[in-house]
Amino acid sequence: MDRIRIVGGERLNGVIPISGAKNAALPLMIASLLTDGTLTLENLPRLADVQALMRILGNHGVDYSIEGKRFGQSGEQGRTIHFSARQIVDTTAPYELVSKMRASFWVIAPLVARMGEAKVSLPGGCAIGTRPVDFLLMAMERLGAKIDIDGGYAVAKAKNGLRGAEIAFPKVTVGGTHVALMAASLAHGSSVLHNAAREPEIVDVADCLVKMGAKIKGAGTSTIEITGVPRLSGARHAVLPDRIETGTYAMAVAMTGGDVTLQGARADLLQSALDTIVQTGAQITETNEGVRVYRNGGAIQPVDVTTEPFPGFPTDLQAQLMALTTMAEGVSRITETIFENRFMHVQELARFGAHIRLDGDSAIVEGVKRLKGAPVMATDLRASVSLVIAALAAEGETIVNRVYHLDRGFEHLENKLSRCGARIERLSVGD
Ligand code: EPZ
Repeated sequence: MDRIRIVGGERLNGVIPISGAKNAALPLMIASLLTDGTLTLENLPRLADVQALMRILGNHGVDYSIEGKRFGQSGEQGRTIHFSARQIVDTTAPYELVSKMRASFWVIAPLVARMGEAKVSLPGGCAIGTRPVDFLLMAMERLGAKIDIDGGYAVAKAKNGLRGAEIAFPKVTVGGTHVALMAASLAHGSSVLHNAAREPEIVDVADCLVKMGAKIKGAGTSTIEITGVPRLSGARHAVLPDRIETGTYAMAVAMTGGDVTLQGARADLLQSALDTIVQTGAQITETNEGVRVYRNGGAIQPVDVTTEPFPGFPTDLQAQLMALTTMAEGVSRITETIFENRFMHVQELARFGAHIRLDGDSAIVEGVKRLKGAPVMATDLRASVSLVIAALAAEGETIVNRVYHLDRGFEHLENKLSRCGARIERLSVGD
């Protein structure tokens, strides 16, 4: 199993290209099931989750072809892939596939909308919390699907098609909003989603659905109106830049000091996180190229932050912020309101010498003057990158084990960081 070795203490200076957003890429790929035309997605990141979803879609009958490199492109630019679900050959998404990646449960929406049926394994719990799918099933039921839970599978049927409905989500849910958007796009009649998620990835998917012929108004606000159409067509769409990757590298620079341009990043996708990073003492400016982050000397300041649905501070940057505050000059409070168990990084950060105490859904972080490198274990995707951030500033050597978590969501992480001066390398099995 691969590991990552980091020797801390170097400032980061240079340019880091920001990849396409994983959490937009996945639902966009799933949207290819809605049409018998070809959906071409540009700027798809090279990630284990994207590969895993390609296998899942392949099982339903989606053909895909990957465009070769074009003149002037580097091997690191996002890929363009054509997805074609001309014929759906299987409406079952089996446990072995869905259990590896929760977002694959979302195939339930296009399968039922287009084929009138789907049998999709329930995803089960994961490291960051119980993460049920009750709101997703509620949305499908409101749209007229009949759902039975049988043998660990959600078996959904809508033989005469879905029909438009009003859906009020009891809590903001990204997955619930994606599912309702996709399903309602092919339903008979109109739908209204209340308390919809406003995340930029929802807007990106809605933009793509509109290119495919869907009628959607209000994406990016908490009320979305959808008028169903009988069929959708193929389209071409570029995945928006990854705001979580952007925030992660911005925090890495705020931690180590230095000056880095996050190329292709869009500040408007993560304003609240950037404001927090500025509070810690780093400076951030928007440039023609993207977002520039720099910190030259000066202490890291403590912060008091609570995770919230967009446009609030994202839960997917909570672990990284915690790493940053471990070296602040004072006490920070970080409160997690989205997932009940997203603090597994606390124990691992303690291995660097961080002082963190849990108080219900808050972590109280008492800044220390220095961290020391240690062997640590990645537990989930964002938690593992928080260990990388800590290691970049820690004295001495850190070995991050279970690197496959990082490969799920960060494209070319070691290359991007080492090009900015970090001492980081991947140790493959046998090294
Ligand atoms: C998406 O997960 C993201 N995943 C997550 O990113 C992200 O952390 C999360 O949204 C919140 O922003 C993708 O986009 C692929 P939710 P999702 O439905 O859709 C509860 C990462 O690291 N809930 O918005 O699964 C749920 O338990 C990942 O990239 C129910 O109770 O999240 C949570 O407390 C991790 N019932 C809250 O709602 C439901 O049916 C928000 O979850 C659905 C959700």
